[in-house]
Amino acid sequence: MGWVTSKLLVSRACCVENQVNGHRFSIEEFARDVRAGLAKTGQKELYSKYFYDDLGTALFEAITLLPEYGLTRADLRLLRAHAGRLSPESGRISIVAELGSGSGEKARCILPYLTGPDGLIYCPIDISPAALTRCERDVSDIPHLRVMPFENSYVEGLAAAARLRKPGSSMLVLFLGSSLGNFEPDAAAKFLREIRGMVMPADWVLLSTDLVKPVDRMLAAYQDELGLTAVFNLNLLARINRELGANFNLNHFEHEARYCDSEQRIEMHLRATVDQTVSIGQDLTVQLNAGETIWTESSYKFHPQQVAALAGKAGFVCEAQWIDAEWPFAQSLLRAVGN
Ligand SMILES: C[S@@+](CC[C@H](N)C(=O)[O-])C[C@H]1O[C@@H](n2cnc3c(N)ncnc32)[C@H](O)[C@@H]1O
Repeated sequence: MGWVTSKLLVSRACCVENQVNGHRFSIEEFARDVRAGLAKTGQKELYSKYFYDDLGTALFEAITLLPEYGLTRADLRLLRAHAGRLSPESGRISIVAELGSGSGEKARCILPYLTGPDGLIYCPIDISPAALTRCERDVSDIPHLRVMPFENSYVEGLAAAARLRKPGSSMLVLFLGSSLGNFEPDAAAKFLREIRGMVMPADWVLLSTDLVKPVDRMLAAYQDELGLTAVFNLNLLARINRELGANFNLNHFEHEARYCDSEQRIEMHLRATVDQTVSIGQDLTVQLNAGETIWTESSYKFHPQQVAALAGKAGFVCEAQWIDAEWPFAQSLLRAVGN
């Protein structure tokens, strides 16, 4: 049976569970990761997942509107062009789980095609409560949709969502926005294998990846003229100040984006502009020299065939791949194969 179900004219508000399932990381975990990343003797690092407090989530939403940030518009164009025509020969989809949903803007393009009188469960999974709130609001008017948000990390959230599957039905996992590019290559391969371990044969993954393109276009997306990405990056230090009692002076750092050709990745860093000593809570002092950087995010770029190969090694077959004409960006429709 195809994915395309008749769009019902019946206007019935979808049901949003009033309780968000799961829990986000603890403050202890945040403190532990920050300590480990900043105490490194070589390149200091912070995990990009900590960008997304309420302010970081709002800043990311604003970044998606920047003329330089072509990723979101490309993702949306592809969804609008293909969502209604996706028709894998699988059984009925009863669950759509979206990893790192952010807002519900993208899910909105797909969900109406999958809902029907039998109902559909949509599980947005995100560590940002602000993103989940916005997401619930964005999809709240889709008929026959039950929204069950999970405030949790990708893997834990997906494991919980998979338990809601109805026997004999299939699941669609959305991983959009090129968030796979935030993983180091080995971690990306491991992550896809973990997803494969949680889905069943004939389940589906719709995976978005940003593609390699001229360096100036890729870089501009991460160092926009307005300086929003710089603020987004600096907010990570501000968050550490707010939540972990650190005393970073934001005036002593500047945002930097660079492209590493051999690794096919954009790197975001925060560069110290003066020698400085920063306290993080009571028990950690970090010494930074002028010019030294804290590495805050990697965004790997792909060639289309690399995505298919990566998926193949993880136990998926790439059934279709669509590429945006304006901003090289791919959506790959993967089907789980094997046991
Ligand atoms: C770059 S945004 C992308 C949002 C949306 N998928 C899109 O395509 O625009 C990444 C989202 O993933 C969430 N996120 C980041 N790391 C996560 C993790 N490890 N587990 C769950 N959510 C995560 C963030 O809170 C944020 O909402």
